[in-house]
Amino acid sequence: MEVFEPARLGPLTLRNRVIKAATSEGMTPDALVTDELIEYHRRPAAGGVGMTTVAYCAVAPEGRTERRQIWMRPDAVPGLRRLTDAVHAEGAAASAQLGHAGPVADASSNRVPAVSAGRFFNPLGMAFTKVAKAEDIERITRAHAEAARLAVESGFDAVEIHLGHNYLASSFLSPRLNRRKDGYGGPIENRAKVALGIARAVRDEVGDRIAITAKLNMRDGVRGGLEIDDSLHVARGLQEEGTVDALELTAGSSLLNPMYLFRGEMPIPEFAASYKLPMRVGLRMFGKRFLRVYPYQDAYLLEHARRFRAELDLPLILLGGITDRATMDTAMAEGFEFVAMARALLREPDLVNRIAADPSTPSLCIHCNRCVPTVYRGTHCPLVPEPD
Ligand SMILES: Cc1cc2nc3c(=O)[nH]c(=O)nc-3n(C[C@H](O)[C@H](O)[C@H](O)COP(=O)(O)O)c2cc1C
Repeated sequence: MEVFEPARLGPLTLRNRVIKAATSEGMTPDALVTDELIEYHRRPAAGGVGMTTVAYCAVAPEGRTERRQIWMRPDAVPGLRRLTDAVHAEGAAASAQLGHAGPVADASSNRVPAVSAGRFFNPLGMAFTKVAKAEDIERITRAHAEAARLAVESGFDAVEIHLGHNYLASSFLSPRLNRRKDGYGGPIENRAKVALGIARAVRDEVGDRIAITAKLNMRDGVRGGLEIDDSLHVARGLQEEGTVDALELTAGSSLLNPMYLFRGEMPIPEFAASYKLPMRVGLRMFGKRFLRVYPYQDAYLLEHARRFRAELDLPLILLGGITDRATMDTAMAEGFEFVAMARALLREPDLVNRIAADPSTPSLCIHCNRCVPTVYRGTHCPLVPEPD
């Protein structure tokens, strides 16, 4: 496989195999699309990606990580339509990441209780989550399908279902966060019901009008969390049911171990400053314990992802430390159909075009993770010089 060749993704043909991964934008003060958000996605589209991913598109008000995030509702459609038009005009496709934050939601900001597989104290919202009842699960599953329908109406070419990072569906997958005694807890067959059910509902709703991908945790990276044997079970279920066209492989827990997602240094002062009291003080005092650091290396999820490649026929998207032509070529040689890139494209939105023109182009991203705490005030790389 060649990274810079057109590629099929379900009903879509992408101009190449590079996808801009979801990086929640923090550019929607009224939970509606702004010109700034459109420009944020137009730039990597103009910069050569095959598809950009709009995050965050919550499926319900309590599924936002905080109040200002877009949640999929008819009012959001005209703005999203302008966004997809702008991305298409640059020759790229657009995907909407559909998610329900579950225990990661800031309930005090949303002014609605967060729901989760189990009762959990979220220091962000300074509140316990509400245990999702069967009717909540039904409502939220239905909300994913409805959000996917609105994504089609908004001109999206794909949706990405968020099944990672200990958001709602991922909280059900985690034996640590899901200690339920009902049909949704216990063995992985039960813990996987929410994730598989959401994917099924989305497929039933949109058919093959657009492509469907899912972003699935391979491991949570926490003691007692989801491990690979169980996440493989979920992946096989998605494959057998034909509910997704490709699977993006991720890892980590926004709730319990965020740095497992990113690797590299975490700038604790910048991180703490982005939170309200008392989280700010807590992070300054205990940040080192919460933000356990893992060394960064290129293609850092490859080792785990190889197990998925070996056991699945489903197209797979390799993510995590893809920054240059060498890592893209490694992914292709290992049988991954697509690569996804996040931080490197925040640093340089035109990186893909430059790599296509010159395969020796290095990435300027240094994985300092100082982009991460910017998600609340306009996601950006603080190393990019301000325009004059
Ligand atoms: C600023 C920022 C915001 C992110 N927001 C999201 C998000 O909303 N949804 C998601 O699934 N992942 C999110 N991620 C994770 C990325 O999609 C990706 O999984 C991670 O950064 C690893 O890829 P990379 O090494 O190419 O940066 C975010 C990452 C960053 C840096």
